[in-house]
Amino acid sequence: MDKTTLTVTDNRTGRTYEVPISDGTVQAMDFRQMKTSDEDFGLMVYDPAFKNTASCRSAITYIDGDRGILEYRGYPIEELAERSTFLETAYLITYGELPSQEQMNQWAHDITYHTYVHENIKKFMEGFQYDAHPMGMLVGTVAALSTFYSDAKLVDDPESREKQTQRLIAKMPTIAAFAYRHSLGLPYVYPDNDLSYPGNFLAMLWKMAEPKYQPDPVLERAIDLLFILHADHEQNCSANAMRAVGSSHTDPFSATAAAAAALYGPLHGGANEAVLRMLTEIGDRKRVPEFVERVKAGEGRLMGFGHRIYKNYDPRAKIIKEIADQVFEVTGRNPLLDIALELERIALEDEYFIEHKLYPNVDFYSGIIYQAMGFPVDMFPVLFAIPRTVGWLAQWREMIQDPEQRIARPRQVYVGQRRRSFAPIEMRNVTREEAA
Ligand code: CMC
Repeated sequence: MDKTTLTVTDNRTGRTYEVPISDGTVQAMDFRQMKTSDEDFGLMVYDPAFKNTASCRSAITYIDGDRGILEYRGYPIEELAERSTFLETAYLITYGELPSQEQMNQWAHDITYHTYVHENIKKFMEGFQYDAHPMGMLVGTVAALSTFYSDAKLVDDPESREKQTQRLIAKMPTIAAFAYRHSLGLPYVYPDNDLSYPGNFLAMLWKMAEPKYQPDPVLERAIDLLFILHADHEQNCSANAMRAVGSSHTDPFSATAAAAAALYGPLHGGANEAVLRMLTEIGDRKRVPEFVERVKAGEGRLMGFGHRIYKNYDPRAKIIKEIADQVFEVTGRNPLLDIALELERIALEDEYFIEHKLYPNVDFYSGIIYQAMGFPVDMFPVLFAIPRTVGWLAQWREMIQDPEQRIARPRQVYVGQRRRSFAPIEMRNVTREEAA
């Protein structure tokens, strides 16, 4: 018997099927042939939240969650964090190989060339309320970009894909910085193309009256490193949104806005904001045990802990913890760090967290660093969205060129009412609660 197959006996009919196994997976469509009669639609697989479903083949990011391994295009995250820059890593993620010096120069030039946004984008952003959440502004503004670039619709044209990729990677920091300045009521600062990618971002955030803003090299490198760590993470919620929305062949600006909207949620990119709020609420190291007990009693989650894929220490969290000290030397120590360290210590020794394999994830320490650097918590998901744009675009480019991909369209198990007669309004007396 072929050892690379799965033998399935359908006990409803007594029939046996042989389903091929390749790359550790079986094809869901192979189950459709399993029917009880000719009228039967055939067996489907049920997997809410895609807990055990591969939705694509991908050559971008490899994660081994049990062993805490993360690699972009085969390069370990630890090595990239130590030796690469964000822009170089962005090239690697986008094209699959590290650039030569010449390619790197061209790439840096191309990204720099596209950092400006149309003046009407500025006007558009001015229309937001003074206290608008910067992530909401980012989502709306990125979607609006599609109206400025009609060529973005040409998703089958490699040249257009290239152009939109560069535009999005280049303009994200500009839009993010404008959103930040808007929340402070400060004038927007235009990109300074003499600076590095992270240096220019810091300048657009913090430049005041000085003629030339010089970023602090430690903070510039810290942001660059944080961007490297957040650049991609394979098929997470926002990458899935990017692929699903992009699968209808909408333009990449609209798809990126959808991905950013997915990132906004507290279970995904909004988690570092939630961590900070949680640490502030705990307020004191002494109150950590009491807080952990409340989490175990089901009163909320320990934010920044747990991951769908990592059942071990998130490798990104380790690197972030290391850079925290360098940042604090410049900014002063964030007092929330002591609460976080105590929380980690107690949780890692606790039966509940050990049993559920809950370890700190990337968001546990990143917020503490961002806060020490002077970012308000509202900006945290925005700081995640800038580098993740690179990952979203790589996922989108891969999806568009994959001959196996079609418009994303899951099946459902229908559990509602079947055909019934329309009742006249005076005959209806079901409350909303009963109806639900
Ligand atoms: N605190 C307490 N209990 C937890 C936590 C947590 N942070 N995370 C999971 N659990 C428990 C959960 O209650 C469940 O317990 P039981 O089986 O007894 O009902 C079990 O662990 C499995 O949880 P799940 O929700 O089924 O796991 P998931 O893989 O669907 O969720 C997660 C992953 C990240 C959404 C979740 O761990 C979580 O909500 N963490 C807090 C939010 C957070 O830090 N998110 C950032 C993720 S990393 C950045 C990113 O990629 O966006």
